[in-house]
Parts: sequence; C-alpha cells; structure tokens
Amino acid sequence: MDSSALLLHFDDETAAAQRLAQAAELPARCIERHRFPDDELKLRLPVDAQGRLPEHIVLLRGLYQPNEKLVELLLAAQTARSLGARRIVLVAPYLGYMRQDKAFTPGEAVSQQIVGRFLAGLCDALITVDPHLHRVARLQDAVPVPVAVALSGAEALSDLVAQRRPGALLVGPDAESAQWIAQAAARHGFAHAVCTKERQGDREVRIRLPALAPHAIEGRAVVLLDDVASTGHTLAQAARLLHAAGAASVDVAVTHALFVGDALQTLADAGVGEVWSTDCIPHPSNAVSMAGPLARALREVLARGVAFEEAERAPLPGVATLEGVHR
Ligand code: R5P
Repeated sequence: MDSSALLLHFDDETAAAQRLAQAAELPARCIERHRFPDDELKLRLPVDAQGRLPEHIVLLRGLYQPNEKLVELLLAAQTARSLGARRIVLVAPYLGYMRQDKAFTPGEAVSQQIVGRFLAGLCDALITVDPHLHRVARLQDAVPVPVAVALSGAEALSDLVAQRRPGALLVGPDAESAQWIAQAAARHGFAHAVCTKERQGDREVRIRLPALAPHAIEGRAVVLLDDVASTGHTLAQAARLLHAAGAASVDVAVTHALFVGDALQTLADAGVGEVWSTDCIPHPSNAVSMAGPLARALREVLARGVAFEEAERAPLPGVATLEGVHR
C-alpha cells in the first residue's frame, strides 16, 4: 500500500471509514465540520505539522442523501489540492444522482451527466459499487474521470442467498436488474428471471412477472434482487405478484439500502420476509460488507500512479481505466 496515502472521511461515516482503512491498511483521519447558524459549512482538513496533506488522498463519501455531501466534496477536494494532494481517489460506495440519465420530458435536468462531470472535476479516480447505469454502458460515460472502478455487490449477495436460501429462484424486478441477476445467478447456478416494470410515479409502479411455467414459482423460495431500493414499492409490487403466483417465501437482497420513510413496512405489508443489503449505505438490513472488495480496488488504483499520469495526458474517452475489471 502507498505509504503516503491518507483516507479522509466525515464523522457520520466513521464506522465505514474504519472498516475500509483496516482492510486497505491505510491511516484514516476525520475532516472537522462546523455548521454555521445559517447552515453553511466550514471544513478543516487534518494537516500535518507543516500544514500539509500527503500527495495521495482517499476521500470516502457515500452519496446517499447527497445534496449537502456534494458541497462537502467540493470544499474538501479543493482544499486538499491546495494543501498538497496531487491525486484524489473518491470512494463513494453509493453514487447518487445516477438514475436521472435523460430528460424524460422537455426541460428536465439530466442530473447524471451534470453531477458526473462535477465529481470528475474534483477527483482523479472514482471507486463505487453498482452505479445505476441504465442507458449508459460505462461508469466513465457518466463520470468522465481518468480512472473509474465499478464494483458489484451481486456476488456477495449471491453468496448470502446461497447460505440462507439454497435453491432459491432469483428474480429481478425490472429490466435494469438483469445485469445483477445474471451475475448473482451465475455464481451459484440459481434459476433466475426478470420482471418488466413501468413507472408511473415515485411510489407507483406496474410490474409484470416473467412468463414462467407455474411450477417455477409455486412452492419455491424466491429472492428478489436489485441494485437499490428506495420507497420499496418496486420490490413490494413484485413480492405481491410472486405470492399470488404461489411462492413459498419472498425475501429481498439489495446492494443499496436507501429504504426511505416507511419502505420496510411497505415490504412487510407485501409479505416480504427477510431483507438483506450490503453495507454501502448504513442500514439495519446490512448483511454483507463491501470493505474487502473496496480495499482491493483501492490498492490497485493507488498502485497505478503511473496510469494516472498517462490518463491525464490522453484525451477522453480513450483514457486508461480499471473500469469493468471488478464487475
Ligand atoms: C430502478 O430501476 C432501480 O433499480 C430500483 O428498482 C428503484 O430505484 C427502486 O425504487 P423504489 O424502491 O422507490 O420503487
């Protein structure tokens, strides 16, 4: 590990930072944050006795409830540069603002592109987990940063399902989930299928089960697997249909446990049994840690200092990238 690298984090993510720092064998320090009475923020970075930072900075910030965190990243990254950081690696286990990837009606902001370019302007490398990429193929198309690594929680969740529900039928609630379902199913040879979904509003979705033989669902343990659950309505609707089709049990496994408001109750009301998630977003349902895979990716990125230099010289999008290596 690069001995000059330092992991910086915010106080509300101390537990996640400690897990990552330990797995990556990096020192970790907290960024001090003061909130003025009018809600403006002041940050103070942990400099050495000379008032400097190491050349390589790893900035951990999970971008759930992202609005204020984007300002924190702006302040932290630019301050780090002014204090000596030459390379900044952003580790955002959850990357917010990825779902709005086109203007669905005229006049809408394409948040993915705007936030993606903003983040690319702050850091030299990005490591994230299961970014919600639907109409764009690669993470770098959304966040045009020289080095981009997209890990996946699907395999770790698949391992968990194999222990808790061996022989389960894995079901994805919509077309986007097909990529994660395929990965999770391949790892343990699970039977799998994907539903179709039409979204009519934030909390209204229409889901159709895939055309399967009746015995494929009847009497089976089914696990619904997706990248992210927010209001829970997508998974709840799918769970109701699966129960109506005779499933013996329906459990849920997601990489990103946003679970806003009464989402868990919505799932329980739909007959969902267990809910499992990775620790990319801290939540009581966390059952799988991504600290190990994140640390391995971080080690590779930090070891590739030369690739950073090359990437900077090359015009985008033909840049050096680790993208895809870990998927
Ligand atoms: C979208 O395609 C995502 O993969 C999730 O299915 C979606 O964000 C879930 O949202 P909600 O839980 O609000 O239905």
